[in-house]
Amino acid sequence: MSNKRQILVTSALPYANGQIHIGHLVEYIQTDVWVRYLKLNQHEVYYVGADDTHGTPIMLRAEKEGLTPKQLIDNVWKEHKRDFDAFGISFDNYYTTDSPENKELASQIYLELQKNGLIAEREIEQYYDPVKEMFLSDRFIKGECPKCHTKDQYGDSCENCGATYAPTDLINPYSALSGAEPVRKKSMHYFFKLSDTRCEEFLRDWVQGLAQVEATNKMREWLGSDDEHKLSDWDISRDAPYFGFEIPGAPNKYFYVWLDAPVGYYASFKNLADKIGLNFNDWVKPDSTTEQYHFIGKDILYFHTLFWPAMLKFSGHRTPTNVFAHGFLTVDGAKMSKSRGTFITADSFIQTGMNPEWLRYYFAAKLNASMEDLDLNLSDFSARTNSDLVGKYVNIASRAAGFLVKRFDGKINDAAMSHELLSNLRAAQSNIGTLYESREFGKAMRAIMELADQVNVFIDGNKPWDLAKDASKADELHAVCSICLEAFRILTVYLSPVMPTTAAKAYAFLNIATQNWADINVPLNSSQAIN
Ligand code: 2FM
Ligand code: ZN
Repeated sequence: MSNKRQILVTSALPYANGQIHIGHLVEYIQTDVWVRYLKLNQHEVYYVGADDTHGTPIMLRAEKEGLTPKQLIDNVWKEHKRDFDAFGISFDNYYTTDSPENKELASQIYLELQKNGLIAEREIEQYYDPVKEMFLSDRFIKGECPKCHTKDQYGDSCENCGATYAPTDLINPYSALSGAEPVRKKSMHYFFKLSDTRCEEFLRDWVQGLAQVEATNKMREWLGSDDEHKLSDWDISRDAPYFGFEIPGAPNKYFYVWLDAPVGYYASFKNLADKIGLNFNDWVKPDSTTEQYHFIGKDILYFHTLFWPAMLKFSGHRTPTNVFAHGFLTVDGAKMSKSRGTFITADSFIQTGMNPEWLRYYFAAKLNASMEDLDLNLSDFSARTNSDLVGKYVNIASRAAGFLVKRFDGKINDAAMSHELLSNLRAAQSNIGTLYESREFGKAMRAIMELADQVNVFIDGNKPWDLAKDASKADELHAVCSICLEAFRILTVYLSPVMPTTAAKAYAFLNIATQNWADINVPLNSSQAIN
């Protein structure tokens, strides 16, 4: 194919201290469907991920569980990988940010930024736990709310009255780790100078290429008007003890987890490239003709549309082609909650015995290209998936296959393959393709189900069960059943980015090879019998 594109795609890296839940799955399924669609079109696509393994919470959880951080992240990696496999998330490489590639790339990027005068050193004063001998971020400091005087509130906001404040405003602050009274202590920190005019100018330009209007607006808000200079420098260092990478030339200082996390996209890709013999540099150099897309949740837009592109730009790399942010998942209209029983992990979904591809379909049917939140309505879930997938789609094959196998040795009537209904189904290819490409999956699912409706109307009108009773109508029965199975094949290809396992079973049943997008126009034929 002459218009073969080279495309690198990522989903956000999940933290290595928690389970994958269905909120995460919205994003992995969204990305996976998109990747599978592009691969069906025979582009050269690599989809990479990794566990996001560094930082204080992971270090502390390991300590609590009596494990080394390395042991903890190895265990969690296996669980995450198991969950992704169960939901058909087809990473070409699933790696870890705690890797030699990531250490090297993060250091390289940092040193380039430093060479370009974009790293500043500044002393800052922070709370310090004298018992644990470590600096405390806001979430590890508690105390009495300065507004409503509720006790045991976190260092940044009060759960009772909603007030936000600085940890220094808390009354009788204490360390959430040891209970000790924190002391103020100074320490040298390293900053990425995002406020530098070079960064600002670059970002003002880069924002123009963003696909989503909500993302563009957010970024414009962060950038402010030309004379506002609203960006501030970013603190990228943390003091020991910290689970992460030591900063080159700065003993006992570590990269903040959010510095090496996005670099983890490149590290996972480099690890893959080295394994399969790709030239990594061709993909990441400034004038690269390859494309690079990041799927993320709307909550981490700031990191992906400000820090990450600027880090790449000023360390001598290409910048992302686009960032696609999605909204949050609610369950029955509310935030997932353990107490309401709506906090559903990937594993607990699998344990119910429900088909993971039904969830893929449900999410696809609800997704669009915007950042709107989406809801999983638990009663609607089974009704919708049953009526669409069983009632409309699978039924097409069930209603025709038996007759074809019993009466016609499972062979297709070739002459029927040019029937008008099939031409209609094939003619939808370009529209459905465009909807997939533009991440309008909900519209794509509706278009496919409308086609399935047409096929079912055709079956109801032609009544194969009546034709089967009349020996003189054998030819007609053969044609009707052949049309149904060819329609089923076309619908299967249309659904295959969303339901790859179901599609594989359907291809085995039809006795045909795995289909590409172009195969929509290559009908079944009488040389192969269906099973
Ligand atoms: O918000 C999160 O869950 C982060 N672990 C996402 C990191 S994405 C990327 F930058 F690594
Ligand atoms: Zn309060």
